[in-house]
Amino acid sequence: MALEEKLNKLEQMRAEAKLGGGEKRIEAQHAKKKLTARERIELLVDPNSFEEFDMFVTHRSSDFGLDKQKILGDGVVTGCGEIGGRKVFIFSQDFTVFGGSLSEAHAEKICKIMKMAMKVGAPVIGLNDSGGARIQEGVVSLGGYADIFLLNTLASGVVPQISLILGPCAGGAVYSPAITDFVFMSQGTSYMFVTGPNVVKTVTHEQVTSEELGGAMTHASKSGVAHFACENEADAITRLKRLMEYIPQNNMEDPPWADCTDPLDREDDALNSLVPENPNMPYDIKEVIGHIVDSGSFFEVHEDYAQNIVVGFAHLGGRSIGIIANQPQVLAGCLDINSSTKGARFIRFCDAFNIPILTFEDVPGFLPGVDQEHGGIIRNGAKLLYAYCEATVPKVTVITRKAYGGAYDVMNSKHVRGDINYAWPTAEIAVMGPKGAVEIIFRKQIAEAEDPEAETQHLTEDYREKFANPFIAAARGYVDDVIEPKSTRPRLIRAFEMLETKQDSNPPKKHGNIPL
Ligand code: HXC
Repeated sequence: MALEEKLNKLEQMRAEAKLGGGEKRIEAQHAKKKLTARERIELLVDPNSFEEFDMFVTHRSSDFGLDKQKILGDGVVTGCGEIGGRKVFIFSQDFTVFGGSLSEAHAEKICKIMKMAMKVGAPVIGLNDSGGARIQEGVVSLGGYADIFLLNTLASGVVPQISLILGPCAGGAVYSPAITDFVFMSQGTSYMFVTGPNVVKTVTHEQVTSEELGGAMTHASKSGVAHFACENEADAITRLKRLMEYIPQNNMEDPPWADCTDPLDREDDALNSLVPENPNMPYDIKEVIGHIVDSGSFFEVHEDYAQNIVVGFAHLGGRSIGIIANQPQVLAGCLDINSSTKGARFIRFCDAFNIPILTFEDVPGFLPGVDQEHGGIIRNGAKLLYAYCEATVPKVTVITRKAYGGAYDVMNSKHVRGDINYAWPTAEIAVMGPKGAVEIIFRKQIAEAEDPEAETQHLTEDYREKFANPFIAAARGYVDDVIEPKSTRPRLIRAFEMLETKQDSNPPKKHGNIPL
């Protein structure tokens, strides 16, 4: 065969591979408001940057007539592309080919790019749209899943791993995205569950739709499995690109810098009046964050889940940082089970990938209640504490108001290796809130008083005056300085600059034993 003929054949095979499961199935995909595997990649990467591998791979099965149905690529498009000029490895499951189901060969293609990503030091992005294990193949497809789970685990903390769920994701298949660092879901077109509505109905007699059981909003607000519930696929891809602006390529690199047009020395008068005088009045910590970080740079993660803590990335003087902040507007900013695990997971991502951590603290304590105690607030609160203790990246805290009890220790106090700890003059740092404190230490005196209520109020005021301020902690060096709120931005920029060359480490060990 002459070269020209061979080239024609190559072109023909490429065209065949690009068609996946054929026009009809592509139309069906579009009718479900879903893009094809290749359209998704096109939206994701810089123009002409995608290098595809394994386009000619086919499955090796012959049972159930599969030997007559070999489709080039076998239901997943894999390769390497660039996002904003930075390398990423991608797999994109093709629902038009056997419902994107995972065969032995399909799994091998995914494993190949994951191994390459680890060697090269670049993120892995998985676009998931699959009916699960290729039913006709049996155990080899299960083996393929396990191979992916293992690589997900080995790559964890080495390169960022990001999952977009853009179609079905059920059974054991959910565990690959679950091990990755961030999960994006598209509303109305994606779902994740271990057992679907039919099995649930048979076993527990509960009636539930796919959307209610495992749709984007369910996982973003209830289970916490999804970090982002996106309006549609395009929105998911746009948000993923935004995330990339804050994170490094791998655990040996620093995150990228952003251009900063917001003045580094900008003071912000509004910050001086954001915390209400009445300590029981809430305010929005996101407003505080917005006034401090580079204009418009706050990118919230897990926005709909455990809203009593706010986590997300931002740029501060162009530097990428991770922010963890108590939210006084929700549950008065108390720490509970979900907010503790949300915070802990975010801190561990930042620490693994060299992203400095900024903590805003306004926390009256851990949330009381039987549900919380029986649900394991001890074990789960300990995760947050553990994550802060083990993190060695630069860690800066600003106490805006309350820092009470165990929560004072947990939220990146000096004692858990906070590097720079600032307090606003509005800070109240003590073992517990003034009213609770006087009711315990002056119980007898209050009981014997002529007017117990007035006595409590008077003692509470006294206590507040004496203890509910930042100066007792400052006298010990537990806060490094009490700063005027409006000066917070320049002070933080300088703090992170100073900490840029920080070196710290933990004792050698195989790994710690975080209280899971
Ligand atoms: C082989 C599959 C498949 C699968 C779908 N298809 N799932 N082929 N293995 N797992 C094929 C269909 O035969 C069909 O082929 C095409 O994909 C599209 O499927 P439809 O059913 O027409 O699409 P839709 O109505 O959108 O429904 C999608 C679906 C449904 C909800 C995903 O197909 C489904 O329930 N599939 C089975 C899901 C499942 O039970 N998977 C195994 C889970 S166990 P044609 O030729 O008609 O286009 C598992 C274990 C993993 O995954 C464990 C890891 C540890």
